[in-house]
Amino acid sequence: MNGIWPLGSSVKHLTIAGGAMLYNAALARNFSPSWFEPQFWTERGELAGTARGRGTAHYVRTAERDLVLRHYRRGGLAARVFADRYLWRGEERTRPFAEWALTHRLHLAGLPVPVPIAARYVRHGRLYRGDIITERIASTGSLTEALRSEALPLLTWISIGRCIRRFHDLGVCHADLNAHNVLLGDQAVYLVDFDRCSLRADGLWRDGNLVRLRRSLEKISYGLPAERFTDADWQALLGGYRQSSAPPAGAAAQHT
Ligand SMILES: Nc1ncnc2c1ncn2[C@@H]1O[C@H](COP(=O)(O)OP(=O)(O)O)[C@@H](O)[C@H]1O
Ligand SMILES: [Mg+2]
Repeated sequence: MNGIWPLGSSVKHLTIAGGAMLYNAALARNFSPSWFEPQFWTERGELAGTARGRGTAHYVRTAERDLVLRHYRRGGLAARVFADRYLWRGEERTRPFAEWALTHRLHLAGLPVPVPIAARYVRHGRLYRGDIITERIASTGSLTEALRSEALPLLTWISIGRCIRRFHDLGVCHADLNAHNVLLGDQAVYLVDFDRCSLRADGLWRDGNLVRLRRSLEKISYGLPAERFTDADWQALLGGYRQSSAPPAGAAAQHT
């Protein structure tokens, strides 16, 4: 891992049967491999619910912090054959380690992302399975959930545009920028799900990300009252995106 990015001294790397784990010892002091098993949390009475993505995200409530545990699952046609198995191409290219490392880096740069706690892969011959644990964002829900219950103020759309712009200015191409992966907090807008995301030089991928979000918004607002997603909303989002996105003083420079 350290070949790509320095992860910092609190990040521990452990070899386990058939695989390896990464975890941030400063944030998960009593960490154990059983944290990756939903059963472990169920038995302790600390499972606090689930969310659906491609797979199931488990919400966990520990005494110290709220967590989200996700097992990597494939979507689309490949899911029928491979379900939750991926081709081994080296540790750094496993889904969990790559997502963990990118999210860790974005967090250090001061971007609104979930704080990564731990990641694991376990090999099965030429394939592997993987999991990731992040700190749960105290959000009022995803953009999808918000739109299903009410129309949003224009200011929220502007904030979403600004948020996306901050990621793009760092070169983060989000592989799946849809309304489920935008979370609305009381104070801030967050992006989640950095699986398969990459850091890139400027390019048309920026527009590609926005087009994908627009399609997702059209899809989820189909069948909802027309005022839930209007052209003015989208223009407000683009307006926020176009404003220059100076990061909070020193935030990015301190850690990179
Ligand atoms: N750290 C987090 N805090 C709060 N909710 C989260 C967090 N991570 C994921 N979620 C919720 O779980 C859903 C699925 O997680 P996601 O990372 O998008 O995985 P998938 O690859 O399955 O889409 C998200 O859309 C979001 O609603
Ligand atoms: Mg997602």
